[in-house]
Amino acid sequence: MGKDVIIACDFDSAEKTFAFLDKFTGRKPFVKIGMELYYAEGPSIVREIKKRGHKIFLDLKLHDIPNTVKKSMAVLSRLDVDMTNLHAAGTVRMMEGALEGLTRPDGTRPLLIAVTQLTSTDQESMEKDLLIKEPIADVVMHYAHNAKIAGLDGVVCSPLEAGKVHETCGEKFLTVTPGVRFADGDIGDQKRVMTPAEAKRIGSDYIVVGRPITAADDPVAAYERCIAEFVD
Ligand code: C5P
Repeated sequence: MGKDVIIACDFDSAEKTFAFLDKFTGRKPFVKIGMELYYAEGPSIVREIKKRGHKIFLDLKLHDIPNTVKKSMAVLSRLDVDMTNLHAAGTVRMMEGALEGLTRPDGTRPLLIAVTQLTSTDQESMEKDLLIKEPIADVVMHYAHNAKIAGLDGVVCSPLEAGKVHETCGEKFLTVTPGVRFADGDIGDQKRVMTPAEAKRIGSDYIVVGRPITAADDPVAAYERCIAEFVD
């Protein structure tokens, strides 16, 4: 898979999601289904969106004992998603178990991506709440390295970290980056943002874009603008 734009479908119902996706009559976007939509609608939402011809990133961020994650990944794999994820904090063993569970009998599997430290965690909360004293940039790179050792395909990270992740883990190790905004758009609650063109320059493999597309007056035009800046 090459570079692509993934739309974060952060809606709380199938009805709103389909009303949104119905606007895309040409190119079918790669979509991200997160916890909100998945917990609202269950696995049927995944099947229905897949049936409409979209690629799917199922963003459920699994984190549990290795055996539970392995068995849960086996179930998710049967949903025929293209990409899914987990928390690298679950350890290398958990990530290895996940990969095993995700691999279908024919040897194929969805891409598996690790979350390193959530962007909502900062140095202070990491030290105070998690008792991790290292600089957060080092922790992110260490978790990325663990994901690589476990055999995963890449990490979710800030576009600002994508270059360093590629240096540490290799050019083929995927970087999936949220926090994307148009140069002339609102940044909302995101703190460190980049335009699609900047994310491309810095080497992101996939950008995850929510509100700049979902809340746009013309979502299809906003999506096409992302594609023009990031992919074409
Ligand atoms: O609307 P917006 O473009 O900010 O949406 C970004 C999407 O990426 C949301 O679904 C958000 O949960 C997700 N995300 C993020 N930052 C991370 C990990 C995921 O914004 N570190």
